[in-house]
Amino acid sequence: MTQEHRQEFSQDSTTTSAQRMFGSQASMYATSQVHIHDNRLTTLQRMIAESPAPRRAIDLGAGAGFTAFAAAEYAGLVVASDLTREMLLETRRIAGDRGFSNVGLCQNRAEELPFATDSIDLVTCRAAGHHFTDLGAAFNEIHRILRPAGSLVMADSVSPEDDALAVWYNDMELRRDFSHVENRKVSVLLKMLEDRGLKVVEQHDERTYMMFNDWVKRTATPQADVVSLRRDFLNATPHARETFLIEPQGDDIAFAWPSLVFRAIKS
Ligand SMILES: C[S@@+](CC[C@H](N)C(=O)[O-])C[C@H]1O[C@@H](n2cnc3c(N)ncnc32)[C@H](O)[C@@H]1O
Repeated sequence: MTQEHRQEFSQDSTTTSAQRMFGSQASMYATSQVHIHDNRLTTLQRMIAESPAPRRAIDLGAGAGFTAFAAAEYAGLVVASDLTREMLLETRRIAGDRGFSNVGLCQNRAEELPFATDSIDLVTCRAAGHHFTDLGAAFNEIHRILRPAGSLVMADSVSPEDDALAVWYNDMELRRDFSHVENRKVSVLLKMLEDRGLKVVEQHDERTYMMFNDWVKRTATPQADVVSLRRDFLNATPHARETFLIEPQGDDIAFAWPSLVFRAIKS
């Protein structure tokens, strides 16, 4: 990461960093194919469809709204909740284009939810938890707002259990996106949920397939960092190449991040 980039974006807290990153890059996320649809969204949508039809749902870290729209097919009302105003404006625009009249907007931190205790049937969250400054606090809030036996349906990138791979992976993510917080190991994530009374009833390991050039373009990563990241992808250990399916393709590099998709019930 260049000094100039650091100064431009990270002078305040991590939360402000997330707002600055996603505020400036909102239109990139609104047109990102992997966010518009991926295999994780298909799994999430099936889990939502198999849950009792929710009257009230909240999508946390909603971004440009693609997971909120998946929930809106089944829910009476979905509130797309996000820290970043520019992302919510994209949600509003796309909801209008797609003709959704049951998608509301709320600008707030996932760690402090302005919703009543025991009031929500379903919480969804895709590709956002690893950006939250305090995921544990967000899980506390999710548990508080869900009605008894309400569902959290979530997909997020996760680290392998191997320490060296986990360090390499989070280092790549942080150098590409200064607002990255942490891709946690599955064991850590499951313990966080269990400790907060969110009982996982279904879980799947999935992968998010991406291309390097598109990945760094989406976050406007400075050129010097792109060069060093590309070098580190190409020089990754055989174990990392195998785990993350790193495959040079012409002047680009294909890779896949591991993800966990799960449904948890409030107990
Ligand atoms: C990659 S985007 C989410 C994509 C979206 N969920 C989807 O399915 O297309 C991550 C989002 O998390 C939001 N975010 C980051 N930190 C947050 C926090 N602490 N609370 C709420 N939202 C946060 C960002 O503003 C951004 O819109």
